[in-house]
Amino acid sequence: MHIREIDTSKHPATVAVKFFLEDPEGMGVSSPEVSLKAPKTRTLLELALENGINIEHACGGVCACSTCHVHVEEGMKFLTESTEAEEDRVEEAPGLSRNSRLSCQCEIIGDGPIVVRVPAWNRNAVKEVPH
Ligand code: FES
Repeated sequence: MHIREIDTSKHPATVAVKFFLEDPEGMGVSSPEVSLKAPKTRTLLELALENGINIEHACGGVCACSTCHVHVEEGMKFLTESTEAEEDRVEEAPGLSRNSRLSCQCEIIGDGPIVVRVPAWNRNAVKEVPH
């Protein structure tokens, strides 16, 4: 996936985003929580990928799959609203909940804080960079 360039003079990395990473069963990965500062306009998927959190993204971030499914535990109002296309896609994801979103469609627009839980089945721990 291509991570877009962001003009950090216009959008400094000031938004607090915390990822809770469910431990993939049997992987022995122990990085349950990652706290980051993000620039506005970055998507949750881009932010995760550029920081070594490998959320699956089979379609490359164009809202054509549901593999980038996450749960937004706090700060939904600081993200772009879900579109009809996203709602249709996210319904296909396992473990659907009221706070389910497709991380590639969640652009950061507010000041945060934002808390995101990444389901264990959605992490490719083999590719992750240890923290
Ligand atoms: S990566 Fe396919 S919908 Fe987000």
